[in-house]
Amino acid sequence: MKAEADPNVIVYFNGQYMPLKDANVSILTHALHYGTGVFEGIRANWDEESKELFVLRPLEHYQRWKLNCGILRIDVPRTAEELCAITQELIRRNDFHSNLYVRPLAYKCAERIGVATDDRDAFAIVAIPFGEYLHAEEGIHAGVSPWRRIDDNAIPARGKICGAYVNSALASDEARRCGFDEAILLNESGHVAEGATCNLFMVRKGKLITPAVTDNVLEGITRDSVMELARRELGLDIVERTIDRSELYICDELFLTGTAVGIAPVVRVDHRPVKDAALGPITRRLAHLYCEAARGRLPVYRRWLQPVYRTAAAAQSMAVEKSVA
Ligand SMILES: Cc1ncc(COP(=O)(O)O)c(C=O)c1O
Repeated sequence: MKAEADPNVIVYFNGQYMPLKDANVSILTHALHYGTGVFEGIRANWDEESKELFVLRPLEHYQRWKLNCGILRIDVPRTAEELCAITQELIRRNDFHSNLYVRPLAYKCAERIGVATDDRDAFAIVAIPFGEYLHAEEGIHAGVSPWRRIDDNAIPARGKICGAYVNSALASDEARRCGFDEAILLNESGHVAEGATCNLFMVRKGKLITPAVTDNVLEGITRDSVMELARRELGLDIVERTIDRSELYICDELFLTGTAVGIAPVVRVDHRPVKDAALGPITRRLAHLYCEAARGRLPVYRRWLQPVYRTAAAAQSMAVEKSVA
């Protein structure tokens, strides 16, 4: 899905809340030319039952953002906790009551020609209504991309560095033109890295397997959530190891994870069925658990959520859960 924002939506820019139409940068901005920015993607999920909007793992997203900004020597002069509070206020000012995507962006803001960076940094946070990214309930068809995942020694894939997303855009565009729903990228050593905008998991012989964080992948927060759910709720063994391309063709289940995609089952890869081309049992259970946890329906995972409005219904259900626990 492509989310176009209303120009009157309130955004946080240069330390102030203002309409999107007034939050502009110069065409000479360093990051616009050289990709010297770092962004984040955070989901907020509306729960109709409790009439509450839950921001999903905002603290972990802001902690990751600040660390990855450090790779580019971009300073975000706010703590992760302050950034969570700014996000909550931003959503409240817009009075949003639907699923959202929150996009923080920090960047080199010097207005000049020349690739060398200096200490002029800026950041903005935008929140916009956002539905499904991939229509994935019945599973998607993924294709291994002819583009290779960028290497850590070129542009680190572990941070959401703006310029690195040329790699994702090339792979994504190519995949869609070839009729696939999503691209799977191999790294320079020829092993599976991840999707263009998501991490990858496969199930083989009852084990959940995903590439290690040293395989040129983004250190995904959904990846981390899925690993916790798999371990704690399903008692699965999780193995972080190199994955061969041909394992994609013989595995029992395959799925992608990310803030935008959630958990997207892959039922076909490179025109081959994954097992019998239907949703696998482990993927189905994990997708259900993740969806419940992200909407505040599993008490153990309430710690992942920041309620925006703290509605009476949400407070009441939390109190009941506390007394039960
Ligand atoms: C390249 C890439 N890999 C993985 C992910 C998943 O990361 P997360 O679960 O933190 O959203 C993303 C998310 O945007 C991504 O762009």
